[in-house]
Amino acid sequence: MKKIHAAITGIQGYVPEYILSNKELEKLVDTNDEWIVSRTGIKERRILKDKNKGSSDLGAEAIKLLLEKTKTLAEEIDLIICATATPDMLFPSTACLIANKIGANNICAFDVMAACSGFLYGINTASKFIETGTYNKVIVVGCDKMSSIVDYTQRTTCVLFGDGAGAVLMEPNSKGLGIQDAILRSDGGGGEFLKLKAGGSLSPASHETVDAREHYIYQDGQPVFKAAVKSMADVSEEIMKRNNLTSEDVAWLVPHQANKRIIDATSRRMGVGDEKVMLNIERYGNTTTATIPLCLWEWEEKLNKGDNLILAAFGGGFTWGSIYLKWAYDSQK
Ligand code: ACO
Repeated sequence: MKKIHAAITGIQGYVPEYILSNKELEKLVDTNDEWIVSRTGIKERRILKDKNKGSSDLGAEAIKLLLEKTKTLAEEIDLIICATATPDMLFPSTACLIANKIGANNICAFDVMAACSGFLYGINTASKFIETGTYNKVIVVGCDKMSSIVDYTQRTTCVLFGDGAGAVLMEPNSKGLGIQDAILRSDGGGGEFLKLKAGGSLSPASHETVDAREHYIYQDGQPVFKAAVKSMADVSEEIMKRNNLTSEDVAWLVPHQANKRIIDATSRRMGVGDEKVMLNIERYGNTTTATIPLCLWEWEEKLNKGDNLILAAFGGGFTWGSIYLKWAYDSQK
């Protein structure tokens, strides 16, 4: 019997309209465009301004467009996996809220939480349901309203993040295309360097936690940067080695967009030239779980059936990983 792979068969991104530029941030905190661009590669990011909307609205928009584009009905979907670090609320899960918003109310839906590596954890989880024949049509969506947890008085973090969503449709493939291999890792010891201190069961919201601004992202940038550079490059190199891939075999590196310097270090270690690296950090910043699907969406037209893609991410947890997949369709319109 032929092995069934799980393949991405459709991709769609969604970003809110409002553009927060480096110039505008200069008015909020003591920073400047030159510092932000040279240290991170970011020029602007999108912000969801509507106070009545959360991550589920970003995710639902991406999925509605994806269903339209792939001519899929909501009732055909078997499973929705939502990767997010900014759930609408602790529960119900954002996946359930999204399922309801797109009119799929009788399906399996759950969240995965692996911060910036969430999309990789999500598609790897989805692949198991597909490879085992459990489900045929699975949507994985990465959506984050990072602006809801960014402290716009902190120059060390507020320049980094933006809001956005990206969704993929995944289906079985019997021709050897789709996900080939995955390496996913974590190290909870890194939690102290990148976290949201309050609002969970350990430190529920109180006047004290609000006064101490503990409902905003806390990040000690340097140790996170060092771990990200090493871990993302390590797993990307490892997945190439164990699949006997040379840099020539790799059509595209699709890296998590947290910092251009981290991306450069990863591509250098893989021996992959800049022309094969998907990069849109300058326009969106770090949208956490949405960076990788947003890249795939913007590059869709350049992708060809059979292209070898290496997806790589690093994020809070720490979590990191790399996925090797063979693109399953010709995307030129
Ligand atoms: N504008 C101007 N100066 C700034 C700014 C700013 N926005 N931010 C920091 N600085 C200053 C600092 O105060 C410091 O000044 P000092 O030397 O007088 O103290 C100086 O710049 C250097 O600060 P560093 O923190 O050492 O700067 P660094 O080069 O490390 O860059 C950055 C900071 C961009 C945050 C980097 O550490 C980084 O990218 N870290 C990793 C981010 C990441 O990958 N996160 C994981 C994913 S996120 C997730 O999972 C949710």
